[in-house]
Amino acid sequence: MKNIVIFASGAGSNAQSIIDFFRGSEEVAIALIVSNKAQAGVLKIAQTEEIDSLLIDKKVINNESFLEILSDCKTDLIVLAGFLWKIPDYLIKAYENKIVNIHPSLLPKYGGKGMYGSHVHKAVIQNKEKESGITIHLVNEEYDKGKILLQEKVAVTQDDTTDSLAQKIHKLEHLHFAKTIKTLL
Ligand code: GRF
Repeated sequence: MKNIVIFASGAGSNAQSIIDFFRGSEEVAIALIVSNKAQAGVLKIAQTEEIDSLLIDKKVINNESFLEILSDCKTDLIVLAGFLWKIPDYLIKAYENKIVNIHPSLLPKYGGKGMYGSHVHKAVIQNKEKESGITIHLVNEEYDKGKILLQEKVAVTQDDTTDSLAQKIHKLEHLHFAKTIKTLL
């Protein structure tokens, strides 16, 4: 059995689509959901799906003893599904090429610090981009700069708003994230 640990800070729609994709699998399990936000929707999903979850603060994630929790879960892959904190270097070293992130733009465009969620879509619309999309990439020490595994595009139309673009991007994410994760296991 390969074990995935999901890190998420938000509503958790990507986490849900990953859970749905691997539901009933005899090869892949979601061992743990880690969140830094007590109110995050993803923690409710964990509860409903009866998946173990862990609420962390910066002290926890920045202390190398956090590795013990991950090795107790026999973690094979860490999936960042809308996780807003930078991953500390010790964790990136311990799980080299085993941490994958999804970003709601066509990196390197609209990446880097502060570029997340609606901030990305707002900037894309303000700049009158004709297209946007998603990037699924490995995580290294530099924010949003790890090896790109997959990019998928979507057209940005004149009547798109931050919300409508976010919806289009979410659809793409749900279509491709779990499938790409499977190729890493
Ligand atoms: C996604 O758009 C993802 O690309 C970004 O954060 C959002 C998370 O959405 N990094 P959700 O919590 O999975 O619904």
